[in-house]
Amino acid sequence: MRGIGSLRGKLHEMAVVPGPTDRSAAQVGAIFAAVHAPDAPPARILGALDAPITPLVGRTVAVLGYGNQGRAHALNLRDSGLRVVVGGRDGSAKVEAARSEGFEATTLTKAAAQADLAIVALPDQAQPAAWGRWIEDALPRGTVVGFVHGFAIRFGFIAPREDLGVVLVAPKGPGATLRARFEEGRGIPALVAVERENAAGEARSLALAWAAGIGCARSGLIETTFAAEAESDLFGEQAVLCGGLLALVHEAYALLVESGYPPEVAYIECCHEVKQVADLLYARGPDGMRRAISDTAEFGAFVAEKALVDEHLRATLRALLADVRSGEFARRFMRDHDGGHPEFGAWRRAASGHSIEAASARVRALMPWLKDA
Ligand SMILES: NC(=O)c1ccc[n+]([C@@H]2O[C@H](COP(=O)([O-])OP(=O)(O)OC[C@H]3O[C@@H](n4cnc5c(N)ncnc54)[C@H](OP(=O)(O)O)[C@@H]3O)[C@@H](O)[C@H]2O)c1
Repeated sequence: MRGIGSLRGKLHEMAVVPGPTDRSAAQVGAIFAAVHAPDAPPARILGALDAPITPLVGRTVAVLGYGNQGRAHALNLRDSGLRVVVGGRDGSAKVEAARSEGFEATTLTKAAAQADLAIVALPDQAQPAAWGRWIEDALPRGTVVGFVHGFAIRFGFIAPREDLGVVLVAPKGPGATLRARFEEGRGIPALVAVERENAAGEARSLALAWAAGIGCARSGLIETTFAAEAESDLFGEQAVLCGGLLALVHEAYALLVESGYPPEVAYIECCHEVKQVADLLYARGPDGMRRAISDTAEFGAFVAEKALVDEHLRATLRALLADVRSGEFARRFMRDHDGGHPEFGAWRRAASGHSIEAASARVRALMPWLKDA
């Protein structure tokens, strides 16, 4: 409870302290105040009994896209006894893969035309063009369209026809994990949201049936909104999971190597061992992780956390969240995509050329079995 209280305190601080952007304090404050009250109530969490699969039985689910998420959704739904048709763009290699795995697989338009529930599992940046060109006009009147991430709806890149129900089922993990847990008889949690009911009033029940069919109701379905899912997901991956973590890994690795430590040793300490700690955090939470490490490591962790967390870090986090909430990040991402991704391409090339990659290859070569991970 102490943790939640202090988080709420931080959210409250965020609502009034400006970030290091060119916005005025009032503008930044308004972005935060508009979205979260400091004392937001706990989420409503549904389980398997709240999410029967029956509303989808005898209906057709069109899975549009057969990549990381689409393949796992399609396989799990089929294994749950539902009729699934896969859709993809003309000439798609993934459509061929779906066909070879026994699916009826066709164009996006033909799949969408059969849908009682159409799941949009295309890359976020490709969704607006594909929606306008191949999907929206093909969807039967009053059908339900489902998203795996709230990006396109929350930031206004897709505005579905008024007659369509609009729902979200966002499993909290990669497609491979969604599939693996399902096959083990388990499931990963998902966020579920209803943006708009359809005329038949069945959008929510179809979303819950979809969540059941992919196995997520076996753990928990957290009821939320497209906005909360999209904003928290973008912020979490930027601040912690992908951006924050790699920033620390790169900086700490570079410092050790500059200070004369062998690159392989630096890599093992700053990157390879992340998995051990992440596994503990995942299974036991922060307190459980601290109990599982040595007193030396735990004492050092407190020393480092206090040294690393300062007003500059807090201001940077606030600025990242402000750019997510205002839509500035989403617009920047789409502008770059529409312009042939000059910024993204340059960053990717620079990151792939970082010296840590050579050390990474040498350390990972010691464990050939990692190729299957
Ligand atoms: N990756 C994850 O772990 C993850 C986790 C949570 C949520 N999500 C969300 O899931 C959704 C799908 O992401 P994803 O990572 O699964 O995508 P992905 O693996 O990149 O899959 C893309 C699918 O879309 C097709 N595709 C690619 N570019 C296209 C285009 N321009 N027009 C039409 N079709 C195109 C691909 O097939 P072809 O290239 O063969 O046409 C493939 O079937 C996104 O909303 C994402 O945010 C993903």
